[in-house]
Amino acid sequence: MRSFEEYKDIINAHLTDLIADAGPEASVLADAMRYSLEVGGKRLRPVLLLASCEFAGGDINEALPYALSVEYIHTYSLIHDDLPAMDNDDLRRGKPTNHKVYGEAMAILAGDGLLSTAAETVTSEPLKYSDDPFKMKNHISAAHEILSRAGAAGMIAGQTADILGESLDPTPELIRFIELHKTADLITAPVRAGLMLAGADDDMLDEFTVYALDTGVAFQILDDILDIEGDQALMGKTLGKDAEQGKCNYAYVHGLDAAKDELHRLTVEAKAALSAYGSDAEFFTELADSLEARNN
Ligand code: IPE
Ligand code: IPE
Ligand code: MG
Ligand code: MG
Ligand code: MG
Repeated sequence: MRSFEEYKDIINAHLTDLIADAGPEASVLADAMRYSLEVGGKRLRPVLLLASCEFAGGDINEALPYALSVEYIHTYSLIHDDLPAMDNDDLRRGKPTNHKVYGEAMAILAGDGLLSTAAETVTSEPLKYSDDPFKMKNHISAAHEILSRAGAAGMIAGQTADILGESLDPTPELIRFIELHKTADLITAPVRAGLMLAGADDDMLDEFTVYALDTGVAFQILDDILDIEGDQALMGKTLGKDAEQGKCNYAYVHGLDAAKDELHRLTVEAKAALSAYGSDAEFFTELADSLEARNN
């Protein structure tokens, strides 16, 4: 296993490899897509995909196009999340949001472009393995995992509930639905897809699914906490807006202390799900700890 920084360097070195040049008539589209990718980001999701693939004995060169695709989907979700019709944000990854630079129409299209590039990539990769049905099946499973968790019963369902939730009673069930889908699904997809590419067995998939869902919900709870007490310069986005917009933010509804308790409980549970692997899984257990302590 490599370190988080080593996986991140691989992602950053290839970050825009899949962005097609659409010719002079549409060159601004590629510029807008590249802008939001290159402006920054933790690269948590693609790193998880490379790491889980390598953990299960897979080849990270095979995993790279899937990892980039997950980062493209994540980045498109942020571009659309920031639009005036959604969260209406001016700052992302420490820089002006996509629509502030390229205008709303181009930001919508840049998001569409990133999502379709990801779909094209994850559905064309399996075809490279048509002479190896076992491997091809693993690749198709990974592709389906990514597109379905990004889709209408996954991340988009979460984003829908997040928007509708602005004018609903923030019940614990509604908050959990939002956290699970808008955020934990796109953290679980790369973990499972990486394992699937490596042909991991069902036990390993189940254990890592618990890890990823818990880590993903914890990630959103801390995002909610940091919206209240984070440092805007470190976060690179405007804070304090969730209350203003009536968002189902865990920490506003349950209180900061309860949010921190739940963050810790989920982190402990996430690590416990991998106890069968002992120190072999320390990349993932240490990552859960560092995510609990993050300030950006
Ligand atoms: C932001 O995700 C959106 C949430 C799900 C809270 P990240 O905090 O991973 O954003 P980047 O990729 O580092 O900008
Ligand atoms: C965003 O959640 C989740 C997705 C983009 C799918 P938030 O709206 O809380 O994320 P931030 O706070 O704008 O990064
Ligand atoms: Mg949002
Ligand atoms: Mg937002
Ligand atoms: Mg937020």
